[in-house]
Amino acid sequence: MSARLPLLSDLWRGRVGEAVDFLQDRGFGGKVGLILGSGLGVFADAVKDAEGIEYKDIPGYHTTSVAEHKGRLVCGSAAGVPVVVMQGRLHPYEGLPYDDLLLPTAVLACLGIDTAIVTNAAGGLNRYFAPGDLMAITDQIDLHLHDPLRGLLTRPFGDDPGAAETGRIGGVPDLYDRDLARKLVEAAANCGVPMHSGTYASMPGPPYEAKAEIGMLRRIGCDAVGMSTAPETVLLKRLGVAPVGLSCITNPARETGQPELSHQDVVEVGAMVRDRMATLLFAYLPMIA
Ligand code: HPA
Repeated sequence: MSARLPLLSDLWRGRVGEAVDFLQDRGFGGKVGLILGSGLGVFADAVKDAEGIEYKDIPGYHTTSVAEHKGRLVCGSAAGVPVVVMQGRLHPYEGLPYDDLLLPTAVLACLGIDTAIVTNAAGGLNRYFAPGDLMAITDQIDLHLHDPLRGLLTRPFGDDPGAAETGRIGGVPDLYDRDLARKLVEAAANCGVPMHSGTYASMPGPPYEAKAEIGMLRRIGCDAVGMSTAPETVLLKRLGVAPVGLSCITNPARETGQPELSHQDVVEVGAMVRDRMATLLFAYLPMIA
């Protein structure tokens, strides 16, 4: 049994465990997990000796309603590193409760990975960012304003022994491992991929941000904005997996005078940079495994 399953509450353990058993029986496991965002799924096609299963065929999984998200779990080897890849993810705006939304992430953790690379398509808030650039996430601001782990863990206070008495929930300091983020920037420099570092804001969506929201996000120090990642990374960290965040800047966050941003625009730039991202990931994986 996965050592991480006992960390999950009764509400969740059985359902996650069923999917984990199903996948382990089919040989799924790995050292590094990857979650691929909008238009970024092609990395999974380059995985060697790959086994793939559609989400709809895995017990307890929901299929994503976003057309460009494939909805497939792939296991194999990339640059010699055993990987498990989520090709497509669910988003909070799709309306599922968090135990359904985060189930595939919990399963990924229980398949025994020790690092997870969580990728997303994001709007650039930092004025130095251009579409097609990548950003190593060094921290996040979760604006879903909902505790994604509510009711899902056996020890909601984490490992802080005094927290239950004081009622204070232990935080997640250094959510993103600094050393792993630094190596991502180093890998990008080695392969000539434009790369920044910065803070990711996770918004509920599904509409893109209003102008006033973009102004607010800039003022509170965010460099990129998207609609995913934050709930997943908090869960991964609590389950003892080191999260690495990678944003693909598909557009400047919309401002006065700019045309409406469509999902199609985001997907088209995603397609443009997917090769760049795959090159980077193939250079990075051997540095962390
Ligand atoms: N805002 C929110 N999510 C996004 C954006 C954006 O500008 N671009 C890609 N995903």
